[in-house]
Amino acid sequence: MTNTSSSVSLEALASLCKRRGFIFQTSEIYGGLNGFWDYGPLGCELKRNIKQLWWRHIVQSRDDVVGLDSAIIMHPRVWEASGHVQGFTDPMVDCRACKKRFRADQLYEEVGPEHETGSAAERQLRLPAGAKCPACGAQELTEPRAFNLMFKTFVGPVEEESAVAYLRPETAQGIFAQFGNILAVSRQKVPFGIAQIGKAFRNEINPRNFTFRSREFEQMELEFFVKPGTDAEWHAYWVAERLKWYESIGLPASSLQPYVYRKDELAHYAGACTDIMYAFPFGVQELEGIAARGAFDLSRHQEFSGKSMEYFDPDTQEKFVPHVVEPSAGVDRIALALLCNAYREEWIGKDGQILPAEPNTPPPEGFEMRTVLGFAPCVAPIKVAVFPLLKNKPELVQAARQIFETLRRRWMCFWDQTGAIGRRYRRQDEIGTPFGITVDFQTLSDQTVTLRERDSMRQERVSVGRLREELENRIG
Ligand code: GLY
Repeated sequence: MTNTSSSVSLEALASLCKRRGFIFQTSEIYGGLNGFWDYGPLGCELKRNIKQLWWRHIVQSRDDVVGLDSAIIMHPRVWEASGHVQGFTDPMVDCRACKKRFRADQLYEEVGPEHETGSAAERQLRLPAGAKCPACGAQELTEPRAFNLMFKTFVGPVEEESAVAYLRPETAQGIFAQFGNILAVSRQKVPFGIAQIGKAFRNEINPRNFTFRSREFEQMELEFFVKPGTDAEWHAYWVAERLKWYESIGLPASSLQPYVYRKDELAHYAGACTDIMYAFPFGVQELEGIAARGAFDLSRHQEFSGKSMEYFDPDTQEKFVPHVVEPSAGVDRIALALLCNAYREEWIGKDGQILPAEPNTPPPEGFEMRTVLGFAPCVAPIKVAVFPLLKNKPELVQAARQIFETLRRRWMCFWDQTGAIGRRYRRQDEIGTPFGITVDFQTLSDQTVTLRERDSMRQERVSVGRLREELENRIG
């Protein structure tokens, strides 16, 4: 795997995302808010597709996983039991000269890996030798101080200590806290899992890399409960399953890399952890962590709540607190990886020849530039665009509209009747629509349309009666 992905720069991608309605700065009219993003008409479709495909893979297609949708704000004892109140901190460093704030481990990234001596935990407590402020260069950094990443709020009208609550920093704890209820109602037997998709919040010291490290984000988490002693085999199983899923949504195996944690990098309760890493333009970074968390979470909730979290195995007549394997993925990170992977610029010849564009170079004579988001059809925000060849011919518009109305019952479709047909195709290429259908005069006589495929730009005549089946086969 290379260190960074394709040729796309984050700036070019962010610009396209804004221009075409994938991602906007939140409350941009007021200058935005660092670490918060809004997904526009296309971005929210992309995220919806990711979540649907994950749910289908993890819940719908399996006998041994059920779903949950728990509250964002839970009893504050949940976060004491989970260890977040005490230990969910990042080491914060201030620059006395320019007053900017950084994470201490980020300073190690700035000075390079040769300075990364000691364990990750040790590096949280001290600065690398000769550390300078990444913003102003002054050697006036404070020693690292622990900063809790949970957002605090108050429940009810009075802002007092007894009313403190937290926006959840992970969806996982909602699952652990409901383990007993779900076990009672779902007729599941260990091994089985509980899955949840939802918002989580972390007051990151330094949000960065576009949407990669945000303060509000969406998680897709599975807690898979297993018999103690079977953790390692289930962990290996889920790493393999999740890698296959990423490939199924269009991220090539060559862009993905499992990172297996060394013993000294593991959280104290974890037996193993593997991150699935993706080569982003800003470096190879985590998309998903798959951790074997042992009995830590359920045991802690048992201790703090006084409620039993034990499972009675009817086959062996044993009682035990199940262990858990947790694949935990970030929807926003996956959306960003899909956008990075999909973005490409090409030179298109008049005869349909396609060449990869050279960076910062105008196309050669006879070629024009096109920007394409080459999404796999399953994640593409819009699956099919429908075009009447001419907007001032009511018979074409009516025939096209009929096809559009039929197809939109099944997929997100786009209607476009304005501009030259080539321009309309380009607009769809740029937002990643895999298929375009053009209704022309031939349609009126033989009931066929032109079906155009985005990547090859190949066009074929397909009868209107076969369209739905044809698209079903290609989109799935
Ligand atoms: N539940 C693991 C995480 O949020 O990172």
